[in-house]
Amino acid sequence: MTGDIKTLITEHEINKRIREMAQLISHDYHNKQVKLIGILKGAVFFMVDLAKALNEIPVTMDFMDVSSYGASTCTSGEVRVLKDLDEPIENEHVLLVEDIIDTGLTIRFILKQLAGRNPASLKICTLLDKPSRREVEVPIDYIGFTIPNEFVIGFGLDYDQRYRNLPYIGVLSE
Ligand code: IMP
Ligand code: MG
Repeated sequence: MTGDIKTLITEHEINKRIREMAQLISHDYHNKQVKLIGILKGAVFFMVDLAKALNEIPVTMDFMDVSSYGASTCTSGEVRVLKDLDEPIENEHVLLVEDIIDTGLTIRFILKQLAGRNPASLKICTLLDKPSRREVEVPIDYIGFTIPNEFVIGFGLDYDQRYRNLPYIGVLSE
C-alpha cells in the first residue's frame, strides 16, 4: 500500500541530471579534493549517486544529522545537531549535499556552524530547490531541479519517514 503517487521527476531524469551536476562539479573542483557532507537522512540517496559520478576528482564523505523542532512537514527555524561530523574540515573544500532546500533555515544553520571551522571553501549542492517557500536567503551553488510549492517524496525525501526509497520524485495525492 503506497497511496496514490503522481510522478514529478522520473528516475531517468534524476540520473541524467546528477551526471550533469557531477561534470560541472568535477570541472569547478579541478585539481582539488572535495569533501561531500550529506545531511541525514534525505540526502543519502542523492549523495551516493553524485559521489559515484564524481569519478574525475578525489572525494571524501562525512555526514551530519540535524533536527528541527516542531511539526514534521514545517520547519520552525530552531535546529539542533543530532550527529556531528566525524572529522574536522579545516582547510578542506567542503560541498554540503542536501535533498531539498525549502525555507532555507536548516541549511543556513549548518552553513553557519561549518563556516566557523575554517574550511578552505564551503559550497552548497541540492537536488531540489523550492524557492517559493524561502524565508532566508542562502547561496546555493548547484541545483538539480527547481520545483513548485508541493510536498514531494522519494529519492530520499520522506513523508513521516516513508517513501525515501522510491527511485523517483513524486507528489502524494490526498
Ligand atoms: P528547510 O529548513 O525549510 O529548508 O527544510 C529543509 C528540510 O525540510 C529538508 O531537508 C527536508 O527534510 C524537509 N522538507 C522540506 N520540503 C520537503 C518536501 O517537499 N518533502 C519532504 N521533505 C521536505
Ligand atoms: Mg532533510
